[in-house]
Amino acid sequence: MTAKRRILVTSALPYANGPLHLGHMVETIQTDIWVRFQKLRGHECMYVCADDTHGTPIMLRAQSEGITPEELITRVGLEHKADLDAFNIGFDNYHSTHSEENRELTYRTYEALERGGHIERRMVRQAYDEKAQMFLPDRFVKGTCPRCNAANQYGDSCESCGATYSTSELINPISAVSGTTPVERESEHLFFKLADFETMLREWTRSGTLQQAVANKLEEWFSAGLKDWDISRDAPYFGFEIPDAPGKYFYVWLDAPVGYMASFLNLCRNNGWGFESWWKPGSPTELYHFIGKDILYFHALFWPAVLQGAGFRTPDGVFVHGFLTINGEKMSKSRGTFITASSWREHLPTEPLRYFFASRLGSGLDDLDLGLDDFVNKVNSDIVGKLVNIASRCSGFLARSFDNRLAIKLPEPDLYEEFLHKLPMIAEAYESRDYAAAIREIMALADRANLYIDQQKPWLLAKNPERATEVHGVCTQAINLFRVLVMLLKPVLPALTTKAEEFLGGHELSWEDVQRPLLGSKVNAYEALATRIDASAITALISANQAATSPQPTQPKAATHSSPVTGEASIDDFAKLDLRIAKILNAEFVEGADKLLKLTVDVGSEFGTRTIFAGIRSAYAPEDLIGRMTLVFANLKPRKMRFGVSEGMVLAAGSDSPNGESEKQIFILSPDSGAMPGMKVK
Ligand code: 2FM
Ligand code: ZN
Repeated sequence: MTAKRRILVTSALPYANGPLHLGHMVETIQTDIWVRFQKLRGHECMYVCADDTHGTPIMLRAQSEGITPEELITRVGLEHKADLDAFNIGFDNYHSTHSEENRELTYRTYEALERGGHIERRMVRQAYDEKAQMFLPDRFVKGTCPRCNAANQYGDSCESCGATYSTSELINPISAVSGTTPVERESEHLFFKLADFETMLREWTRSGTLQQAVANKLEEWFSAGLKDWDISRDAPYFGFEIPDAPGKYFYVWLDAPVGYMASFLNLCRNNGWGFESWWKPGSPTELYHFIGKDILYFHALFWPAVLQGAGFRTPDGVFVHGFLTINGEKMSKSRGTFITASSWREHLPTEPLRYFFASRLGSGLDDLDLGLDDFVNKVNSDIVGKLVNIASRCSGFLARSFDNRLAIKLPEPDLYEEFLHKLPMIAEAYESRDYAAAIREIMALADRANLYIDQQKPWLLAKNPERATEVHGVCTQAINLFRVLVMLLKPVLPALTTKAEEFLGGHELSWEDVQRPLLGSKVNAYEALATRIDASAITALISANQAATSPQPTQPKAATHSSPVTGEASIDDFAKLDLRIAKILNAEFVEGADKLLKLTVDVGSEFGTRTIFAGIRSAYAPEDLIGRMTLVFANLKPRKMRFGVSEGMVLAAGSDSPNGESEKQIFILSPDSGAMPGMKVK
């Protein structure tokens, strides 16, 4: 038995402005498996996380829903927690960055950095929206790329040519908040002097705990030079006000990782535990962060430097994973593969997804593909066909002929030993996060157990009463092999394990337990541990995601609606239409469709964000539309179009002209000012 370790583990804090999707679940499942493995080995391992609640997008989203940011983050926090619970993510604590603990630790961190001389103030020029009276983050300014002239690009980079630039270089910039042209304004900002920590960061990089690809990336960043980090934002902003800079707030990315500590502090306070010993420099406790590769810079440069500068310990490892693809492609709303955690659990059990992700996760940064057919085949074949099959094949004999009691010795102790010999290698695979290797080894053992049963043929032996002892032995052997397999899969399949533990006598399995086989004791009545997944559930999942998250089309000449000008409609007919106020968040050209624009609209909390294809390109440029309010036919049946699914229709007036130029006569309807997204037209 190795010495007991004390380990603190985190996964990235999800933003509180939207639902969790399967990409989030890759990370929380990866982390949860690692933590459960450490606990299984008898270590003290804590897993803390929280919702990431600050920043401009959350502030604006709350505004557009007509609620306070606090109301928004409370609602989203509950939704997140319900999803995480459904996937059996066993947090020791799940908190919020909008908490007293986080305020306290953020201030403590900042004050220590300032005392250490690591904060500098200087003026910056930034895009300012005079109508909305706010400075605009780069992502909230759109315009034409100064390099390639692609329209509708963000203020910091072009998705078309990949160029990065400053917002002031953008051609025809437009504020996505109000739709007006921003001006430039000066303001004093606070900067964290990252370069003060270069030596320490270089040492930390070379300490050998980072994945090779991560260490290489860091070397690139060192060569490019470490730049100061702007950690302040001007009001209005949803976050923590900076103590000695009224009207300025900490940038969300400063207080987000402090949220890891704050969640742990909250846990300690709730339990009367000491917090400081985990966070002081040189602490013998271990600290690991699981993250996606998109947020490496924050975790491998800013965060260790901030910790060091504020007098805390630094992480022992940052474990980086790749992105999730579905059926080999980026998740996509129009393909119905932008799958939220909640829609998955509505259609399918969650534990098989944990298993599938585990079977595909290595220790590197490679992307992970969820092939939906592969998923069905893999879990049906491995969990039902191999693992559960062992218990279900043998439990009946034990119940019928041996009163559910196991024999007092194994007929093949060597075979049991063979299983035990694999344990160190499987432990090493879990420890190094090579879950795919662990699952391969475990399934090879499951094959071996099934082969044993196939060779012994207890169903034939059972026909001859004189061979009852052999039947008893074979079943006892098989159930013991099953017990080892279940223990090995406990980090991945916690719910199945609980049921299997009940079957095996009600004792919680640990890594140590299986060193000795279970003999002479009684097992409980066997109940099905898992059922096959039907491919039709996948079809339903995809179409639900297509219908719910994708939009509807609106052809301008929306073919579906009949009812021309003539004829009367009753008030009931009108009541069938759900017309809502919506805000156009984005508008872009659709390649290959010369009449269409693809609109992303916010239709309020009930309908969320939708995509609508509208045939208005001849009358409107995308930049004329971004930020505008309009009216949307929200309950129009989603329509699959060649370019994607359209989830509604934007209302526009038009007059047909005899010369065939009717498209030019299009006028989008707008509400009077003050109307909010989601308001119903009645
Ligand atoms: O990228 C994200 O989703 C961030 N909300 C992650 C924050 S992780 C940590 F630093 F708080
Ligand atoms: Zn460009």
